[in-house]
Amino acid sequence: MLKRRQLIQLGGLVAVAGAGAAVWTAFGSRGMHGSQALAVGPFRHYPFDPVAAENFRQKLFIPVANGPFGVLNVSGPLTLRATAASFPLLPGPPSQAPSPFLLYQSEHGGATYQNPILRIESGARFTASLDNGLAEPTIIHWHGLHTPARMDGHPADTIKPGARYEYDFNVRNRGGTYWYHTHAHELTAKQAYNGLASFFLVDDDDQRKVAQALGLKLGVTDLPLVIQDKQFDAQGKLVYQPNMHESMMGWLGDIVLANLTPNAVHEITPRTYRLRLLNGSNARIYRLAFARGDTLLPFTVIGTDGGLIERPETVTQAFLAPGERLDVLFDAARAQPGETVFLKSLSFDPMENEGAAGNMGGQGMGQMMAGMGSSRLALGEAFNVLKLSVVAGERITATLPTTLSRIQPIGSEGAAERQIELSMQAMRFLINGRTFRMDEIAFEVKRGAVEIWRISNPTLGMPHPMHIHGFSFQVLERLNSPSQLSDMARFGQGKTVSDLGWKDTVLIWPGETVRIAIDFTHEFPGDQTYLFHCHNLEHEDAGMMINFRVVT
Ligand code: C2O
Ligand code: CU
Ligand code: CU
Repeated sequence: MLKRRQLIQLGGLVAVAGAGAAVWTAFGSRGMHGSQALAVGPFRHYPFDPVAAENFRQKLFIPVANGPFGVLNVSGPLTLRATAASFPLLPGPPSQAPSPFLLYQSEHGGATYQNPILRIESGARFTASLDNGLAEPTIIHWHGLHTPARMDGHPADTIKPGARYEYDFNVRNRGGTYWYHTHAHELTAKQAYNGLASFFLVDDDDQRKVAQALGLKLGVTDLPLVIQDKQFDAQGKLVYQPNMHESMMGWLGDIVLANLTPNAVHEITPRTYRLRLLNGSNARIYRLAFARGDTLLPFTVIGTDGGLIERPETVTQAFLAPGERLDVLFDAARAQPGETVFLKSLSFDPMENEGAAGNMGGQGMGQMMAGMGSSRLALGEAFNVLKLSVVAGERITATLPTTLSRIQPIGSEGAAERQIELSMQAMRFLINGRTFRMDEIAFEVKRGAVEIWRISNPTLGMPHPMHIHGFSFQVLERLNSPSQLSDMARFGQGKTVSDLGWKDTVLIWPGETVRIAIDFTHEFPGDQTYLFHCHNLEHEDAGMMINFRVVT
């Protein structure tokens, strides 16, 4: 079980740690679920191990007005050039070269940006050229945005090296935290992992009201925060080498980055902060919570994938699956200088490989496969994401508006119900028995129709974050949820806080059925073909994706 990579590159001491981790994933992972234990013994520790709180010493990277992840206020046409570059992800000796990294380069209004955080007003026109400066095909998809199919970055529109793709659409979405990333055919996982992703923030009056009420400032007290897990070699370079098991289950990292900062720490003053959390990981699901020592602290959710929810909702934890966003407020107004709070991921049962053995034709095969990942941090293990250090500053107690926005429920009475079944066959995950084919339309939907999709995930498999292009939806109901989810279902019909408001991605646990409502009204001329896929990016690339066509 010990990976050659760990043996060769990490040397004696860490190789032992690798062995420890492998033992844990092979034999220990089931036993660990439910326990909130953070310490799993001396074998646990490796450089930048996010389980170890004392590792959290790197200043959190905060986007500024330009440079990497600079906030780019879109005014007029934009050029984004996908390029192979390098980026200093892991701190190391001065001799350590930065890691190879893929970036969108842009010049706008006299400033230079890499992976800019695009910021635009709802209703504004967005015009951008993608220049492919990579040695391989690519395309950009605007995750969550309601665009005509031609502007959506379908893998069929993937462009060759040296080619250009022109985008031009109106931003029809309400204010919210959206994002953009590569959707290159069968290369999405690798390219997104290596850097091709950033935020797409849409502003509107509701957003401004919240910002005003709380005195929030983007980049200061309103922080876009992308959470990702990655693997590195001993030289601090990104590693992406999924084996057969990892291509099937998803690639997991063992170093957790917040805004590309490993073991990040950020100083906060006694006031309210808005964190726009984005799970930009390939496959890892987070069970997010704020904790002081062992005590979980309440936080307030104000938004999900498609902008603000109706009312602020206070919770102590929430799942966040790849592709999903959660806008949260953390109130430090009563905290004392010197206090430390961790944003962490609590342990959970990943519910992987349930019955997979039978499907792969051998008793115990599933168990054996479970130990074959190269990550030293198994899915469902507890770890820290970000350390918040309270420092002295003006104490500001703010009052939140009781109403944040208006969510008009989709009128789904009597709407047709479409069955969507996720399944697994021959080590592949399928949607309604299909694997992706570029020129195949899995089904047609009538433009203007309201449909209910009843998405079910059999117990044999793993959780899948299912994502729809072109439209936002509303979660109606969760049925037969595992107890670790139904325990936090406080919002009726089995819904958790992550299911509120407008969504574009929803996590479906093994055994679960989730009913969502979608309104297929759009204003684009002609038929439109969009994707429905799993946002576990290895699953997406392996074909857990279908085309559907909205026809007139
Ligand atoms: Cu964020 Cu089709 O993906
Ligand atoms: Cu998308
Ligand atoms: Cu999946």
